[in-house]
Amino acid sequence: MSSSPSCQAAITAVGHYLPERRLTNSDLEEMVETSDEWIRTRTGIRERCILGDDGKATAFMATEAAQEALDKRGIGPDDVDLIVVATVTPDMLFPATACLVQDNLGASNAWGFDLSAACSGFIYALTTGAQFIETGQADTVLVVGADKMSSITDYTDRTTCILFGDAAGAVVLEADEEAGLHDSIHHVDGEHDDLLCMRGGGSLNPPTHETVDAHMHYLHQEGRQVFKFAVTRMADVCEEVMNRNGLDAEDVDYLVPHQANQRIIDATAKRMGLSSDQVMLNIDRYGNTTAATIPLCLFDWEEDLERGDELILTAFGGGFTWGAGHLTWAYDGAENGA
Ligand code: UT7
Repeated sequence: MSSSPSCQAAITAVGHYLPERRLTNSDLEEMVETSDEWIRTRTGIRERCILGDDGKATAFMATEAAQEALDKRGIGPDDVDLIVVATVTPDMLFPATACLVQDNLGASNAWGFDLSAACSGFIYALTTGAQFIETGQADTVLVVGADKMSSITDYTDRTTCILFGDAAGAVVLEADEEAGLHDSIHHVDGEHDDLLCMRGGGSLNPPTHETVDAHMHYLHQEGRQVFKFAVTRMADVCEEVMNRNGLDAEDVDYLVPHQANQRIIDATAKRMGLSSDQVMLNIDRYGNTTAATIPLCLFDWEEDLERGDELILTAFGGGFTWGAGHLTWAYDGAENGA
């Protein structure tokens, strides 16, 4: 966003969906060679939510989160102009999950699309949705981050199955003259596509018995190498967005980081000069829910947030994709919606 629009896209409500079933570290001890102690100290995770196999998938969770956000804002599905769903676990390759959410909500005036940027999906979708508010093309945008990571997790691979969970988060975007998303910086680097990817199921490796036998329909991650990129890139881009907006540590009320590993979050907060009470952290309860982590943090901290609070949102994910945004919060969260 290089020009200065006369209004910003502000978040005016937050919704969420978390499946009831919990997968704890001790459950995982029964499934693979791991320990609660290893998982907690290396990642910060204690448990995750799992949707299960009863025919429900990402669109279901996305719809629940979106409906909750609309209810909290006190508006109906017909008020929605655009639905952007960030996900790497769409119900189907097409139609887009946004179409399924539109139908489930009964959002008869909305158009929409899916956005694929892995763990950076929500911040990419927020920036994208914001453009439609700023240009006046839309009055009300639903931005949803939703992933059923259990559907692409290999529960025989201890290096990845301990990390991921299922969830959805959604926000309503509307124009505000002062609050909202002031700036965002995004990057991609496709050189390292093989370090975090799902190799099977696309046009390169369509499903065959061989691709299934080779576990190519599961997420693959070279964790240690991804960690090295994530820990520097996330801190770099936060510094970048703070410098470009003239923000010092004391100007920032909260860091809202993607929840992949507590050690990455701690290192980012340290580089920004923030204390732990300024960092939204819920990885212990949900693990890495990919596109849902950031709206889930906003949901969990909503009651503490007040109009005028300055937030830095940041994420890093497969691609590689990463970025950060500077957002001024638009409403007193204790009132539960703008
Ligand atoms: O969200 C998108 C971006 N993703 C990320 O940001 C994730 C980045 N990566 C990470 O968070 C971390 O690299 C992991 C949590 C995935 C792994 O932690 P690590 O400290 O980097 O461990 P490592 O891969 O270097 O493995 C250390 C040791 C290895 O054993 P040796 O070779 O030292 O004998 C692994 O085999 O830990 C072993 N190990 C495990 N041990 C117990 C790997 N997974 C496990 C496990 N339980 N689940």
